Amino acid sequence: MSTTTNPVNIVIVGASGDLTRKKLLPALFSLYCNGFLPERFHIVGFARSTMNDKEFRMQVAETLTCRYEPEPSQCDIKVGQFLKRCHYHTGQYDNADDFRALGRRLEGLNGPRANMLMYMAIPPGVFLDTAHSIRQAGLSDEESRDWSRVVIEKPFGRDTESSAELTRALGEIFTEEQTYRIDHYLGKEVIQNLLILRFGNRIFEPIWNRDHIESISISFSEEIGVEGRAGYFDHFGIIRDVMQNHLLQAMALTAMEQPISLNPREIAEEKTKLLRATAPIDMEHTVTGQYEGYLTDPGVPEDSVTETFAATTLYVNTPRWYGVPFQLSAGKALDTQQTEIVIRFRELPYSLFPGVVGNCLRIRVQPNESIELIVNNKVPGMAFASSVVRLTMLYHEEFKTELPEAYERLLLDVLRGDRSLFIPTQELAAAWEVVTPALHRIETERLKPQTYAYGSAGPGGKAPDAPTPHSEEDRGHGG
Ligand code: NDP
Ligand code: BG6
Repeated sequence: MSTTTNPVNIVIVGASGDLTRKKLLPALFSLYCNGFLPERFHIVGFARSTMNDKEFRMQVAETLTCRYEPEPSQCDIKVGQFLKRCHYHTGQYDNADDFRALGRRLEGLNGPRANMLMYMAIPPGVFLDTAHSIRQAGLSDEESRDWSRVVIEKPFGRDTESSAELTRALGEIFTEEQTYRIDHYLGKEVIQNLLILRFGNRIFEPIWNRDHIESISISFSEEIGVEGRAGYFDHFGIIRDVMQNHLLQAMALTAMEQPISLNPREIAEEKTKLLRATAPIDMEHTVTGQYEGYLTDPGVPEDSVTETFAATTLYVNTPRWYGVPFQLSAGKALDTQQTEIVIRFRELPYSLFPGVVGNCLRIRVQPNESIELIVNNKVPGMAFASSVVRLTMLYHEEFKTELPEAYERLLLDVLRGDRSLFIPTQELAAAWEVVTPALHRIETERLKPQTYAYGSAGPGGKAPDAPTPHSEEDRGHGG
């Protein structure tokens, strides 16, 4: 595995955008503060917007938080040192000459043999043009350097066919080993914990099946709307933006069989099998919604039918899961900001105690990362009266440390050449198969999403088996 000790140039294509500002540069700064970047690194932002280095640095400075430095004075020094390594280059994505000029600049900064990490933080529509320009400018060439790697953001395509075509076309430009398809949910600590929680504890495996589990819900909700990203979002919608990738990845890790080893290929194979056994989204079991005010967001066509909310129920056709509803929901402009996986166990077939309820395992991905087991407990002093209690492990209390951002972990993996947490092509194709028939129906029939109030729980109408927020409280789990 390559080390991070050689000089490296980190090129962020689309550096004027939201992802760069909010996630990538803060993550790189954090890696820098922790000593994970090599001595000789430079970060060069590339985009069409006109900016000079000074303006770019001012933009970068606004988003840097120094969470590892106890001393504020040290923090200022680190920020200053980091900003000196940040540069900006204006150019067009489809212009190889602009990338050649970028290449000359990179050579001036770090010499001709520096390794290259190129991050495509751009809308998917410009991936291919950019890839051609990178290739023509020789930036992906590995003859003159140890490695040159390209990170591609989701969504990889719009449906099964376009994703396969994108994979094929990019495969003619970069090798599979150079290509890192990122799904940042795989870099989240709680998502990574699913493997050890399930397969490192003997108590779960015997009950992790249709005999004992009534339903599993995986929900993603954000309080904000599209916030300036409408140009991208309106072409994709929440099913492509969040469900096809983040939620299906969480589902695959929650439900897959135990891999024969921790080798990334084996894990990917089990996830792929699970996704292949999942019946495609059925629109009869699906609700889509659009928040009030979306149509007046800048960049949204006034007749847009793009969904900003979707809730659906999926079924996995395996002996372990046959008939168990997997309730997936994702939405923007809702009343909560959280992502969680809730496993509801069946009620006792017969109970000695009145009022006891089915157990529930709640895995809170964010915020306030935690694992919570909901059990029935005797009320002290009262003979056989039961109440529902939560056994909770809060990450911040248990581990006394702030969890690293997903992008920190994943960027470090790219620098180290560790491909474990990136999406291979077969798994990608299997995930698209689950959503593509529904996406085609939504588009060809121009299915109109239900309107819901900004900041509400989502559309009023629910699909059969669709998740209801806080539903374990509804079922008497509240405490
Ligand atoms: P932005 O909409 O902010 O776009 C990034 C940059 O790309 C813009 O600053 C703009 O730069 C350029 N750009 C935008 N639209 C177009 C267009 N139609 N044609 C050519 N260039 C365009 O996107 P994000 O930064 O939010 O996202 C980038 C990628 O990262 C996407 O694939 C997204 O799915 C993914 N992602 C984003 C996350 C986020 O939190 N934002 C999280 C996870 C993934 P300029 O005009 O200067 O060239
Ligand atoms: C991105 C989506 O992949 O994930 C965004 O494009 C969404 O629309 C974001 O806001 C959520 O990421 P996180 O890490 O904040 O849950």
